[in-house]
Parts: sequence; C-alpha cells; structure tokens
Amino acid sequence: MHVALTGATGFLGLRLLRRLLDTHRSVTVLAHAGSENALHRIARFFELTGSPQAFTATLPRRLRVVETDLTLPRLGLPGRAFQTLADSLGTIWHSAGSINLEGDLPELRRTNVEGTRHVLELATAGRRRPVVHHVSTAFVAGGRRTGVAYEDELDDTDGFENAYERSKYEAELLVHAWSREHRRPALVLRPSILVTDVPPHHGLPSHPLLVIERILRDARRAADPHGPDPLGPGPDVPGPDGRPRVRTVGHPHARLNLLPVEHAAEVMVALAGLTASGGVDTYHVVHDRDVPVPTVVALLERLVPVSIDLVTAKPDDPSALEALLDFYPGVTAYLAHRRRFDDTRVRTRLGPSAACAPVSLDYLWSGLAPPADRTLARSPDGSPTALPTAP
Ligand SMILES: NC(=O)c1ccc[n+]([C@@H]2O[C@H](COP(=O)([O-])OP(=O)(O)OC[C@H]3O[C@@H](n4cnc5c(N)ncnc54)[C@H](OP(=O)(O)O)[C@@H]3O)[C@@H](O)[C@H]2O)c1
Repeated sequence: MHVALTGATGFLGLRLLRRLLDTHRSVTVLAHAGSENALHRIARFFELTGSPQAFTATLPRRLRVVETDLTLPRLGLPGRAFQTLADSLGTIWHSAGSINLEGDLPELRRTNVEGTRHVLELATAGRRRPVVHHVSTAFVAGGRRTGVAYEDELDDTDGFENAYERSKYEAELLVHAWSREHRRPALVLRPSILVTDVPPHHGLPSHPLLVIERILRDARRAADPHGPDPLGPGPDVPGPDGRPRVRTVGHPHARLNLLPVEHAAEVMVALAGLTASGGVDTYHVVHDRDVPVPTVVALLERLVPVSIDLVTAKPDDPSALEALLDFYPGVTAYLAHRRRFDDTRVRTRLGPSAACAPVSLDYLWSGLAPPADRTLARSPDGSPTALPTAP
C-alpha cells in the first residue's frame, strides 16, 4: 500500500520517514510548498546522522515529492492533481504542523486544525479509502497539572496551557468526527516531548527544548540591551554564583516526559502495523520514566548563564529579566506539571519493545550543547559540576 507523509522534513517526520523507508520501496513526501528543497533537506539529515552513502543515493528515486500547503483547501493542489494523489494512496501519515508554543490561536488553527481537515479531505477523496495516521500530542491533556492522563481521554475541562495544545486538541476532535461520519479507521499517536542526542546543526530541525533556551537567551539579551556581552553578567539581581537570578513559578517535584525521537518513530510505526479496531485508536507514545524538572532546569543553566530558582508564587518585585519571562506563560507553565501519562494500551500491545532506555543528562546535553561545549560543563576548579539525576 503506497504511503504518504506530511511533515517529512520535521524533527519527528525525518525519523518517521527513516522507519517507513525500512518497509516501503517508495514514499510520497507531502512537502511544504515554498520551503527549502525537501529532498535536499532529507538527504542532508540522512548524511548527517550517519546513513550510508549508498542509501542516501537511492532517495531521489524512492521519494516522490509533492509540494503542498496544509493551510489551503486541497492542500493547495489543482483539482485533478489532488484527486490523482488521493487515489494513489493507501496510508497517509500526518506529522506536519506548527509546534510554536508561543503562537497565537488563529495561526495555529490554520496549520494544525485546518491542516488536519485538509489531510482528512485527501483521505476522503481517495478511492482506496486510505488509512489516516494522525500525529497528535500527549499535551492535548491540557492544563491538568497533576494526576494521570489516559489514552481514551479527550476533553477540555482543564483548559489549555497555550494555543498549541488547544489547536492539537481541536485537530483530534476533527479526526474523531471524520472517523464517525465516514466510518473510517484512524490512528491517533500522542507523543510527549521529543528529544534527541544528535547535536544541534543548522541543517537539522531544531530540538524542541531549544525553545526554552532561546526564550531565556532572548530575555537575557533584552533585559540588558547595552551590555557588552549578552552572555556576560546582566543587570539583574545576581544569584549565588554571580549569574542573574531568575525566579520562576514551578514545583520542586514537577517532572516532564521526554522521549527520544528515534524511539518514538519506531513505536509509532510498530503501532501502525497492528490490527486496527475500525474506529479511532489512540496511543500515548511516552517514556515510562519522567525527568524531574530540576534536571531540566540544571540543563538550561548550563546552556544559558542564568541561575533559575523555582518558586511557588510570582515574585512581587520582578527583575527586568523575570518580567520578560512573564511573556511566555504557555512555556514556563510546564515547570509546575506533575501529571503522568498512562500508556497501558501501548505497553499491552507492543510488550517490551515499547520500553526505552532512560533519558540521561548526558543524552540531553549532547542534543542541546553548542559544538564548542560538547563535554559536560565544568565548575571553576575544573571538575564536572553535579546535576540532579532522574529518580
Ligand atoms: N517535537 C515534539 O516534541 C512533539 C511532541 C509531541 C507532538 N509533536 C507533533 O509531532 C508533529 C511533528 O512535529 P515536529 O517536531 O516534527 O515539528 P517540526 O520539526 O516543526 O516540523 C514541522 C513539519 O511540518 C511542515 N509544515 C509546517 N507548516 C506546513 C504547511 N503549512 N504545509 C505543509 N507542511 C507544513 C514543516 O515543513 P517545513 O519545515 O518545510 O516548514 C515540517 O516538515 C506535529 O504534529 C507536532 O504537533 C511534536
């Protein structure tokens, strides 16, 4: 059955493509029209991540690239091209989307909700009734900060931390409505926060945790626009080690679910190979061990010269830097999350192959550290600094 993939140039999509190419002779890449050449970006990813040259050389004949725009009806294709594409497909993997945690709702709805609607229209049009594999997020659980989020839950009673979460929730609702209306099966895959140990490279999609790093760095720079060095000491209250101190609301026992993206892609493709129920099958693609937020904080302190204190309430006397960070409540809210994602369905169906090695600090550091800092940071006396580890 011929398979198409949206978002194949993305952080997750590239890994899904790698897996799909293990079992499919060819894949149709529904690339983002107007972006840099998709085939070049995909080939560069495979080269940079160590695929043999003999494999990379086969990509031009194994990948059929169709330029599309999710936000447009018929994905921006002329009527006949849209129908020909739809009729050629047996499976549509929908991984494209905007993961902009700071984006506004209309913009996110255009890509994530309308984009999903247009992908579902492609599936409806196909005469072979292609199956839809929709990539959602575990964060459709929204603003529920404690307790357990289950795979069969989809409601908005707790609200959402940001417009991204809401847009992904609305996209899932569309998938359910479509499945009911057309009596079609669909697979909904909900990964948690995806990470990698592949070092950052300008030719690769950005690591999701770099969003927080960038926010801190930008705020640092904006709080001290005339400072000689944006990474040098700032104007804010110094912390114990002379770095500007940032008090941000969080919980000392907060934790985040971080999952290696390569493992996520492997699990997703395995789930897609199982017998479907005929309705919407939803799976939490998550790690069985969360990473304590203090570990993530320590990691960020290595990347950006600030000293982060998790506090229970917003400070009454915010520094310039702290005031700037207040502009990103949809991101900093995660520092207070203590909920767990239940993945019983995945573990029951896949067994031990669903398990993933622990996400260690070294692993996270290799995926985030600028090339010059690739070894663990050192304290002033030259010894490696200790960081909290996952329990
Ligand atoms: N990354 C995570 O931690 C994470 C966690 C949970 C769920 N997810 C979900 O996983 C999916 C993939 O995320 P990702 O991390 O791979 O995101 P990403 O790296 O930002 O990639 C997004 C992909 O979508 C494509 N795209 C964006 N706008 C488009 C448009 N208008 N038309 C066609 N294609 C468009 C992009 O193409 P260009 O690059 O050419 O613009 C890119 O291939 C998303 O649905 C996301 O919600 C991600």
